[in-house]
Amino acid sequence: MEWDENCEHGIEWQDNQHKELLEKINILLESVAIGKEDKEEFRQILIFISGYIKDHLTEEEYYMKKHGYPRLDNHIKEHQKFTEDFNIILSVFKYEGIESSVELLNKLTTWFFNHTQTTDKLLAKFLKKYETS
Ligand SMILES: [Fe+2]
Ligand SMILES: [Fe+2]
Repeated sequence: MEWDENCEHGIEWQDNQHKELLEKINILLESVAIGKEDKEEFRQILIFISGYIKDHLTEEEYYMKKHGYPRLDNHIKEHQKFTEDFNIILSVFKYEGIESSVELLNKLTTWFFNHTQTTDKLLAKFLKKYETS
């Protein structure tokens, strides 16, 4: 998946973090596509994504609260649902390993398009009124 201007919402920290996530998704996509079963690399990326999710979602929620974002409740619900789903997939991965990677990738790519490209875009539009970068 390519990063392009549609992915950029104009809030620098948010764009940078989304870009970082896309890079990791692409590494996973590629390793599954070529059938490279590098479990250690996968494990490292999943650890990264777990930390990323926590930090990134917390940061978005911080700014939503700070500026009284009107769509806060729904946005946070999406974050919570994704976190729950991701954690379930993560625990399956721990037992089944690379075999469960397709489900994981589906989840991450769907999240990227349905949340970062739509829900987060609305947030960025709102934050632009307050944040300079
Ligand atoms: Fe986001
Ligand atoms: Fe978000």
